[in-house]
This record gives sequence, structure tokens and C-alpha cells, in this order.
Amino acid sequence: MSKKIQIFDTTLRDGEQVPGSRLNPQEKLEVARELDLLGVDVIELGFPCSSPNDFQVFELVGREIKRPIFCALSRAVETDIRIAGEALSHIKNGRIHTGIGTSPSHIKYKFNSSEDKIIERAVKAVKYAKTFVEDVEFYAEDAGRSDNEFLSRIFAEVIKAGATVLNVPDTTGYCLPEQYGEKIKYLMENTEGIHKAILSTHCHNDLGLATANSIAGIQNGAGQIECTINGVGERAGNTSLEEVVMIMKQHDLGFHCDIKTERLTNMSHLASDRLNISVQPNKAIVGKNAFSHSSGIHQDGVIKNRETYEIIDPTEVGAGESQIILTARSGRAALDFVAKKSGHVLNQESLELVYQEFVKVADVERNISNERLDQLIKAVIGETALVNA
Ligand code: KIV
Ligand code: ZN
Repeated sequence: MSKKIQIFDTTLRDGEQVPGSRLNPQEKLEVARELDLLGVDVIELGFPCSSPNDFQVFELVGREIKRPIFCALSRAVETDIRIAGEALSHIKNGRIHTGIGTSPSHIKYKFNSSEDKIIERAVKAVKYAKTFVEDVEFYAEDAGRSDNEFLSRIFAEVIKAGATVLNVPDTTGYCLPEQYGEKIKYLMENTEGIHKAILSTHCHNDLGLATANSIAGIQNGAGQIECTINGVGERAGNTSLEEVVMIMKQHDLGFHCDIKTERLTNMSHLASDRLNISVQPNKAIVGKNAFSHSSGIHQDGVIKNRETYEIIDPTEVGAGESQIILTARSGRAALDFVAKKSGHVLNQESLELVYQEFVKVADVERNISNERLDQLIKAVIGETALVNA
């Protein structure tokens, strides 16, 4: 039986930490509405102790949206946790996400502390968070570079303190998929009480491995993926929601989630617009070129059968239909196809004449739009030769 993977979206917290992407509560509400419709299980709305806006947004959103779990971030600091708890008082399903650095460099340089003292702080934080909400997620910051034995020790203690979810962030995007998968496997096999909690992946993309690491995580026992729309986030970003969701859909790995994939393109556009971060054209699933074909060989293949060069039907992700883009690399088949779509039926001879002119123009003008093709056809064979399909 396929295992349900929880999708934890942190676009409005980790994603929004990108310089120049600050959202006001109204904008966060707009994005949260769409995330709700998309079907995410958890929405991390912000870091309430960091600013009045991040505090107020919980009330604004909580008044309107009831289905998902809303999550508030805090450090393992009493004031942070209290403020997170207060922000969540307006929320039906609230989760506090608290934690502390666990790697040698965090313990030594950031906290000037010891492993035992870090465990003490973690347990205290989780117990305090439990006085506000039942659902408490604990993150071990920089878990990617933390010692596995120490991680299993701290996780066992926070489970005893009531943590329901254990987050294993590869904060610096350091791990290879094998290493990250091994880490999750080790924690599944060696953490006392692990059956009482869910392990969560939280991967950053510094080496371009965030998606691969998240998949390795669920293949080794994690039950939740933390991710953002378009993979936005600090530095090189976080795991991209649309990528992990479509991987689970494309491959029979024994996992599923509740995301309504046909809303992905719309979601991507909204997040890009509100966060003021454009999506690279070649971005998997939601990039402008993800379903566009411009070389003659590929165009010919797609025209004959879409699946020749596409593994996803664009309608499945709400991207409309595959695009044939006319460029100097396009061949006669693509030209004929686009001309037909615009209502022009060209015989062999006309097609050849138009094609000869088209390649010259395309070399200079790069992409040839439908309007430009119309002009070209008229210029080459005259208005009278145009036959409406
Ligand atoms: O990357 C990270 O470690 C985080 C934690 C605060 C969860 O975002
Ligand atoms: Zn992060």
C-alpha cells in the first residue's frame, strides 16, 4: 500500500527569508489561500517573535482558513515559544516548530555549549511548547552535518518530552542523497520511541541536491517533506514542492500525497509574483520552457506523439498544452503544424517557399510568433493563397 507523505510548505517562512521578498499579512493570506486549495498538509506561516506582521498574520489567516495545520517557528528560547503559542491561539490546528543547532560547529561556536546542555535546552523547549499546543515539531538545525549518534540521542529525549515531528534539516545543503538517506535510516533504526513521531526532511539546495535528498529521505522512512513553491529560500533555496510532488506521481515509489497537481502552475505564478522572484525558464515543472519544444527533431517527435519528448502531460500541472516554439532550429513539420493552428493550410510547394523565407528571418529574429508567421505567409504566397482550415 502506498504511504501518504505529508507536504509541509514553508514558502511563507523559509521561502520568504529571501532578500526583497517580504510579504505583508494580506499578501501572505493570498498565498495561504492558494496553498490551502493546492492541498498542502502544513503551512509554516512565519516566525511570530520576529516582527508584528509575522505575529498578526496568524490571526488574519486563521480566521479564514481552517483545514491545514498552521506552523509557527521559534528558537529554543522561552520568549520565542511563548509568542509562537500566543500567535497560534487563533488557529484551529496549530503546530509550534522549535529547535536548536546540533552540529559540532553550532554547539561549539554558536552556543559555546556541550551536547548534554543542548539536549537539556531542547527538552525544555519542547515541554514548554507543549503547554500551548499538542503538536510540536523539533528541528535539529544543521542536522546534515551533525553526528548521527547525537541526533538519535537528542531525538529520543524530545520524543519523551512530547515532540510529534522530528525535522532533520540539511541547513547548508551539504549532504549527498546517499548520506542523507543513510542519516534518516540510522535515525529510524536507532532512535528510541521513533514510532511515536514522524521524521521530516528539510533540505537546502546549495549543491542542487535538495529534491534528490528529500526523495532519499522518504525512501528511508521520513514521512514529511518540507519544501517551498518554486524552490525559493535562502541562498540557493529549499526543496521545490512541485518537483517532489511530481516525482512521487511519475514514479511508483510507494508514496503519494494530497496535492492537486493541476493547480501547480497557478500556484507557482502567484508565489513568484507576490515574492517578486522570477522563475528560471528551464525550471522543472513550472518554468516557462518546461513544456516548450524548439528544435526541429523534438518538434517533429512531439507533433507525432507528445510522449516522445515529454514525461508529464502539461495539463496535469495546469500548464495548458505543450508549446511548439518556432525558431531557426524548427523544421517544416513544426512550421506546418503552427500554420495549421493559425488556420493556414499550405500545400507542399507553399510550405517549402514559406520555410525558405522563415529560416532566414528566424536566424535574425530568434522566436517567430504566430502573428509574425501570418505576416511571413502573406508576404511569401500572398493573401489569396491562404486557405482557412
Ligand atoms: O534550514 C533550517 O535549518 C531551518 C530550520 C530553522 C528549520 O530552516
Ligand atoms: Zn531551512
